Amino acid sequence: MQRKTLILGATSAIAAEVAKLCAARGDQLYLVGRDPDKLHAVVAAAGDAVVGFESCDLNEFDLAEERVAKWLAELGGLDRALIAHGYLGDQERSERDMVYVQQVIGTNFISAVSLLMPLANFLESQGHGHLGAITSVAGERGRPRNYTYGAAKGGLTCYLEGLRSRLYKKGVRVHNLKLGPVETPMSEGHPQNALWGEKRRVAAGIVRAMERRWHTAYLPRTWGLVMAIVRLLPEGVFQRFGFLAGR
Ligand SMILES: NC(=O)c1ccc[n+]([C@@H]2O[C@H](COP(=O)([O-])OP(=O)(O)OC[C@H]3O[C@@H](n4cnc5c(N)ncnc54)[C@H](OP(=O)(O)O)[C@@H]3O)[C@@H](O)[C@H]2O)c1
Repeated sequence: MQRKTLILGATSAIAAEVAKLCAARGDQLYLVGRDPDKLHAVVAAAGDAVVGFESCDLNEFDLAEERVAKWLAELGGLDRALIAHGYLGDQERSERDMVYVQQVIGTNFISAVSLLMPLANFLESQGHGHLGAITSVAGERGRPRNYTYGAAKGGLTCYLEGLRSRLYKKGVRVHNLKLGPVETPMSEGHPQNALWGEKRRVAAGIVRAMERRWHTAYLPRTWGLVMAIVRLLPEGVFQRFGFLAGR
């Protein structure tokens, strides 16, 4: 039977690769993204697998419930949903401009919650399915260079954990796809190193993690080890090493 897969933030460089992989394995896809031109390109690349698509701003939180109902009706049900959109933003601006803070936290946290809520309720009543959301290693320890974004992704991590526990006995799996830096438009211009991920490999990791029912997947996988060490570092040590805590 063909799986019915909903991808939110489908115009993200990583989500577009996930869409291609899901199309290749025979899923029926519903794709949602903000930029209509980018969305048309993603829809075209996924070909006949696409059952429907919609271009919209996912920060219109009040419309999320109604939109989810419409997308699931057009898809004819739901087996898997992936929430992929995000916004790194300008950290220094977020230290002065509260309207901007709401945009960063709204996109990375409240928007995801506004979508997870109706999706989780649907899957709970159905009694099976997978919900995945992309978070970040930036959500594990606050750093001056991205702590507004990191706080939103850390909040989302906690939300996913609670949702996973709530739905665990209801047959619904909740996946936290926790990414290290990946070469995409979001990270353009950032200095790279050997720990950076490649979008196609990361996308394959996301599909695999949901397939294998991993509750949390660090991608690239090396970041699981890196963050295990970073989490254990005492605060004093963390602050002393500028490359760990610094801008
Ligand atoms: N790249 C990294 O280094 C990295 C590291 C850790 C986590 N992540 C996470 O990975 C996910 C995918 O990002 P990416 O790396 O693929 O970057 P990307 O290509 O820049 O994708 C970000 C996507 O989010 C969408 N988006 C932002 N605000 C939106 C809104 N209000 N409504 C609808 N869509 C919105 C953007 O849409 P538009 O096309 O309309 O702008 C864009 O498609 C994000 O959740 C990001 O936080 C990325």
